[in-house]
Amino acid sequence: MDKYPKLFIKTSLAYLLIGVLVGVVISINPITGVRYGFIHIHSNLLGFMVMMIAGVSYHVLPRFASRELPWPMGIKLHYYLQNVGLLGMICTYLAGYRETIFFLLFGGIAAVSLMIMVYNLFFIFLPPSNNDKIRNDKHTPPNCQEDCCPETK
Ligand code: HEM
Ligand code: HEM
Repeated sequence: MDKYPKLFIKTSLAYLLIGVLVGVVISINPITGVRYGFIHIHSNLLGFMVMMIAGVSYHVLPRFASRELPWPMGIKLHYYLQNVGLLGMICTYLAGYRETIFFLLFGGIAAVSLMIMVYNLFFIFLPPSNNDKIRNDKHTPPNCQEDCCPETK
């Protein structure tokens, strides 16, 4: 599995951990929901769910579609922008800057990162152009060491 799909999945699990812990805190003391509800929801949905979907999709869809992503470098950019955006949103929200340009800036960064994901995952289903690399996993089967896979023998 490539570096960034794996990183997406690991990071998504870290956000799930944070989201669930905050959820437990809100359950114990509902008044904290006013302050931490946003963190609970976005850590779980934007952090865990979107990142898990991104990691799995970036790994699986190029194989299903038998072609490279339209913009492979976009995966790395998506990863860093989404983390900066989400963590920035969480910090500015907690610091009481929800209604300032700082929150908007980080929200915008997160939104741009999701646009990259939409671009890459939407256009992967278009037929590859002559310049695209066609993915050929025959010689790099997943989870196979050299000589262990029947196809390579
Ligand atoms: C052990 C895990 C969790 C606990 C203890 C928990 C707890 C809570 C609590 C106490 C609330 C506030 C409910 C209210 O007073 O209106 C809430 C809201 C919410 N939770 Fe969780 N939660 C957990 C996991 C999750 C997960 C995994 C997700 C999403 C993947 C999630 C998504 C949401 C959303 C979207 C809301 C907002 C609902 C609304 O505004 O109507 N939660 N959660
Ligand atoms: C670029 C990414 C995103 C930005 C900038 C953003 C921003 C916001 C903001 C500003 C609010 C209102 C919070 C408040 O005033 O208390 C909000 C609420 C909410 N967002 Fe997001 N969001 C993003 C992505 C998402 C995603 C991907 C999901 C779900 C998959 C989501 C689910 C929700 C929900 C359920 C609420 C309602 C929370 C409540 O009940 O108070 N958001 N979001």
